[in-house]
Amino acid sequence: MMINKVLLLGGSGFIGASVAEQLSKQEIFVTVPTRRRERGKHLFLLPTVDVVEADIFNIAQLEELVRHHDAVINLTGILHGDFERVHVTLPKLLAEACAKNGVSRLINMSALNANTDGPSEYLRSRGRGEAAVWAVCKANPLLKVTMFRPSVVFGEHDRFLNMFAGLVKLFPIIPLGSPDARFQPLWVEDVARAIVTSLSQAETENQTYRLVGPKVYTLREMLQFVADVTARRRLIVGLGPTLSMLQARVFGLLPGKLITPDNVRSMSLPSTSDQPFPSLFGHAAAMENVVPAYLGQEVAGGRARYRQFRDAAGR
Ligand SMILES: NC(=O)c1ccc[n+]([C@@H]2O[C@H](COP(=O)([O-])OP(=O)(O)OC[C@H]3O[C@@H](n4cnc5c(N)ncnc54)[C@H](OP(=O)(O)O)[C@@H]3O)[C@@H](O)[C@H]2O)c1
Repeated sequence: MMINKVLLLGGSGFIGASVAEQLSKQEIFVTVPTRRRERGKHLFLLPTVDVVEADIFNIAQLEELVRHHDAVINLTGILHGDFERVHVTLPKLLAEACAKNGVSRLINMSALNANTDGPSEYLRSRGRGEAAVWAVCKANPLLKVTMFRPSVVFGEHDRFLNMFAGLVKLFPIIPLGSPDARFQPLWVEDVARAIVTSLSQAETENQTYRLVGPKVYTLREMLQFVADVTARRRLIVGLGPTLSMLQARVFGLLPGKLITPDNVRSMSLPSTSDQPFPSLFGHAAAMENVVPAYLGQEVAGGRARYRQFRDAAGR
């Protein structure tokens, strides 16, 4: 099936920007609904991308948006707040709107370890959201869904490594909660390529893909990596489970909610996979080959350090 017009929910966000750019390069028309058009201003220059203000929870508006497209990608998500509404109700409404309006292709973003019995409300809501979408899919066999479950995603405009970069810039000693939590970080461009490729590959229909980078890191190793890339010697003090939860309770009360107790519960499961990045979507880049090119540029000798990291990573 030829895909010419894609509705990209969550397109104003970090991963959405890469997806919109890759779709635009293929001259696919993209509509990005957002609560405030200003949030999508970095997309204004992409020639085939239209950023529109809409309430995607309003069924009439959602159906009107869906109706004019060949495929829908849902990247809407939150790390704290009303998980049921964003991770369960919305994907269900969206799948129903697709089925009702003859849109046969839906890509839905979930997360690694999504499970209705998971340890955190985030992961349980992801599990319920997936189940809700598959139920609609089962009742409407013409609707073909692809589900993605990524580990943590890095990129120039990510929240995770940039937050670490901010911390190492400001503090000589960093008390780190959940230091042994495990991740397989992957590059935003690889995630976007998997999503965009799946639109044109029939074998991805009604499949779930775990997306992971090539290496496993603990949270402490990721913070140390950022300190090394930005050439800052820092003392990282790993907190045990009780102090990690206490720290999250305090931060969870502050504006911005750097981390919440629910996030700590999510990290009690390794965000890793025993299967590599699916070869159908190409090769996934390692942090060492990508991150120094942007985080390391400000520091003296940034280019030389970038080469060092690339060499150490075997590139
Ligand atoms: N980044 C990661 O490491 C990572 C890892 C695993 C899974 N994921 C999942 O991948 C997806 C994209 O992640 P991201 O990092 O790009 O997220 P992001 O930068 O935070 O963007 C989230 C998007 O969701 C939309 N959104 C959030 N709450 C909404 C609400 N209540 N109503 C309407 N729209 C809402 C926002 O749209 P507006 O604000 O413009 O309305 C925004 O475009 C999410 O589902 C996320 O959970 C991300």
